[in-house]
Amino acid sequence: MGEFVLRLSVIGCGYVGLVTGACFAEAGHQVVCTDIDRERIAKLNAGGVPIYEHHLDQILASAHKAGRISYTADAGEAIRAGDAIFICVGTPPKDSGEADLSAIDHVARQIAAEAKSPKLVVEKSTVPARTGLELSRALSAYSKNSNVKFRVASNPDSRREFPLPGAQRNLSPGPQSRFSRHHH
Ligand SMILES: NC(=O)c1ccc[n+]([C@@H]2O[C@H](COP(=O)([O-])OP(=O)(O)OC[C@H]3O[C@@H](n4cnc5c(N)ncnc54)[C@H](O)[C@@H]3O)[C@@H](O)[C@H]2O)c1
Repeated sequence: MGEFVLRLSVIGCGYVGLVTGACFAEAGHQVVCTDIDRERIAKLNAGGVPIYEHHLDQILASAHKAGRISYTADAGEAIRAGDAIFICVGTPPKDSGEADLSAIDHVARQIAAEAKSPKLVVEKSTVPARTGLELSRALSAYSKNSNVKFRVASNPDSRREFPLPGAQRNLSPGPQSRFSRHHH
């Protein structure tokens, strides 16, 4: 196993968040996941998996048992735990067709309020171009502690979304990941 261990936070335990967390934990990194949905966190803590991805249940179970992945409803705890934070919240289309970025804004406020050390904030949700710039501005604007520096990176989930759970999905954090130890 690894030469180095990253401390990572995952915000949003849906398809993208759980697969991202599972892959990094499986690769030997330390992952803390959070979600606004407390029932989802309770289910994960009880060993359940709220979504279907091939083999995801076994990977999460062994990572949880090994202490490499944990779940908390306390966003502050999750944010403070990671040096890099992966934003994996939903960005559903609004009636106008634009993506609803309110969950991203909510998370930006939480990160700015709770972070006590520098963070790399990685945007994995599907967002329009330039959202990274806005996220960067929001983190600085909401931050009360100007000593805490944020860097923002974009690593959108590159898998296609299909209406049927399980269809055409794969367990990969995405080809642009700079965190996986094995570059293919
Ligand atoms: N599922 C895919 O295959 C796929 C592929 C490419 C891109 N994406 C994109 O990735 C993002 C996430 O998609 P998904 O399929 O994982 O969604 P999902 O609905 O399965 O999961 C989103 C999770 O975020 C949580 N959440 C919402 N607001 C939150 C907040 N403020 N704080 C913490 N948690 C919050 C929800 O409770 C939910 O558990 C979206 O932008 C989506 O468009 C998904």
